[in-house]
Amino acid sequence: MAKEGFNSKMGAIAAAAGSAVGLGNIWRFPYVLGQNGGAAFLLIYVLFMMLIAMPVLISEFAIGRKAGLPVLGAFKTLAPGKKWYLIGFSGVLCAFVISSFYNVVSGWTMYYTYLSATGQLASLSEGEVAATFQQTSSDPVLCVIWMLVMLGLTGFVVARGVEKGIEQYSKVLMPVLLLLIVVVCIRAVSLDGASEGVAFLLSPDFSKLSPKAIFEALGQSFFSLSIGMGTMTTYGSYISKKQNLSSSAVSVAMIDFFIAFLAGLMIFPCAFAFGINPGQGPGLVFVTLPNIFNQMPMGQLVSVAFFFLLVVAALTSSISLLEVVVTFVRAQYGIRRKTSTFIACSLVAVFGVACSLSSTIFNFFDNFSANVLLPGGALFIVLFVPLVLGKKQMRDELEAHGGGFRLFEAYYFLTKYVVPFAISLIFIVNILSWMDIKIFD
Ligand code: PFF
Repeated sequence: MAKEGFNSKMGAIAAAAGSAVGLGNIWRFPYVLGQNGGAAFLLIYVLFMMLIAMPVLISEFAIGRKAGLPVLGAFKTLAPGKKWYLIGFSGVLCAFVISSFYNVVSGWTMYYTYLSATGQLASLSEGEVAATFQQTSSDPVLCVIWMLVMLGLTGFVVARGVEKGIEQYSKVLMPVLLLLIVVVCIRAVSLDGASEGVAFLLSPDFSKLSPKAIFEALGQSFFSLSIGMGTMTTYGSYISKKQNLSSSAVSVAMIDFFIAFLAGLMIFPCAFAFGINPGQGPGLVFVTLPNIFNQMPMGQLVSVAFFFLLVVAALTSSISLLEVVVTFVRAQYGIRRKTSTFIACSLVAVFGVACSLSSTIFNFFDNFSANVLLPGGALFIVLFVPLVLGKKQMRDELEAHGGGFRLFEAYYFLTKYVVPFAISLIFIVNILSWMDIKIFD
């Protein structure tokens, strides 16, 4: 396999941001925030992004670039004869689990593009908008077909190895999505009754902050940044030595956070203005946005463009997920890209069908991957830094571009002590609260 590389700084950041920005920002973030009480969750989320997720992202980039190999090979090469490569296996499992439900949601998004384009979402009442989502998500045939269309498209891109082509398009299309989000936000905050939604997002009520909310904020920050499973380690291996890894990581995280925040600012005012329960779960985006499109000038056009661009954002993330599975199958069994893509897609399709048919399986995959597999993976990835690489090697890698990394000491302290401790503590508190053992009251 020829080593692929991104020669421009924009190329590497765009690809990593393409993986990070997706349904996690626009579909998952608002619904998880809605279920966990709003602004207090947002604050914890920001804190976790800066103190936990950022060090993990920087570590993944550095490990990948140092080894110059995708995740499995990276851990094998940097720690020969040790078991650290198992991080790669857990990453493959995780990519597989996430792909299974991710394609279902991408499928809904595609279907909504079709519904908007054919005018079927126009002039629906709030009740009809809610009923449309209810029918969509509970129609097994529809869910399976659109999930397969999305998976097929992802497989097509991965099989031909044309991700870079998609990235070229997405570099142009993502700013358009951002612009549309801003336009919809402006309309949303000017709706009658929107202020309650803005307050929900921005004025924290800490009494709503349960251990579960803290746990989910952590999982969401990992899911949103695509960290904890080696995706970003693989991207790191494509980044040139001339680039500043820490500033690339900061750019990716800022873009990612900004889009999630704007998604919240678009959805909650809309939810409150139309009397929709913000805590209703995975359908939130689909039951709020069509209402606002119906109250906008050129609403149908905005709606088609919005859902279409969301499909593109989902596609770039979905590609990065499938790529993890395909790279593994190729490396493990030495088979061609096309064959391994076919095998990976067939497996994902089976579990995708299960997620389409059962909301219990869907929710389990969604929660288990974000809240358990990713933080678990991240814990081992950060432990790898002090236990295997050590401070000097890490500093050399992070300063390889020739400049310094002013916050290196802070990064290393967080990675060595704060991140492992915080992830373990949050896990333990949650297990106790699942077992209904109260430690706070
Ligand atoms: N970060 C993606 C999103 O926010 O939609 C989801 C994701 C993609 C998670 C790739 C993990 C991953 F490896």
